Amino acid sequence: MTVQIITIDGPSGSGKGTLAAKLAEHYQFHLLDSGALYRLLGLSLKKQDLLEKLETHLEQCVHIASQLNIQFLSSEQGTKVLLDNEDVSQQIRTEEVGSFASKVAAIPQLRTALLQRQRDFAQAPGLVADGRDMATSIFPQAQAKIYLTASAQSRAERRVNQLQAMGLDVKISDILANIEARDKRDMEREVAPLKPATDAYMIDSSALNIDEVFKLMTTYIDKKLVN
Ligand code: DC
Repeated sequence: MTVQIITIDGPSGSGKGTLAAKLAEHYQFHLLDSGALYRLLGLSLKKQDLLEKLETHLEQCVHIASQLNIQFLSSEQGTKVLLDNEDVSQQIRTEEVGSFASKVAAIPQLRTALLQRQRDFAQAPGLVADGRDMATSIFPQAQAKIYLTASAQSRAERRVNQLQAMGLDVKISDILANIEARDKRDMEREVAPLKPATDAYMIDSSALNIDEVFKLMTTYIDKKLVN
């Protein structure tokens, strides 16, 4: 049986995470949040005091990446993420851990160490894979490839709402600066930079709500999935 794969790539705050989860539920597919893997690795290396020493302790960092002890557990409140059996679901969503992830993600050897772990998520009947390079490097064979973007300003506004809903006190100017710095790093890195696959369906969600984007996506996906 062919495992059907839907990839959703794009910058942070474009709504990828929410839409990927909605699509996985709609099609009853598995879900890969690849950004969470980079966040978990960033957090793990930080805890071991290695984040500032990626270049000089690369071999040790690659080993940690390949042995990363993580679990994704489905619960009523969403997916619980465990690192070394500790619940870090909230912690990995912070801006701070996002910037750890972005550093880790720029190192080719660390990306390679996480590659197979990502591909292992492709199980029947299908997978929705959310990330930056899902279509361009991890699942080039995907049946449906979507690139979801939005202006930096609207992404910053959404992020502020999300973080405030989590009870965090944040300023839009800080978040916008953070998003722009992260976009630049993600787009300009040499390995697997953030860019649309040549055959991706492009959606700009700046002026669209979640339901409108979801409708555009399912209309496209329904034409692409193999019956
Ligand atoms: O999607 P996110 O914000 O959780 O991603 C965190 C960081 O990880 C982001 O700066 C880019 C990086 N990342 C990546 O390089 N490749 C992926 N497939 C997913 C995330």
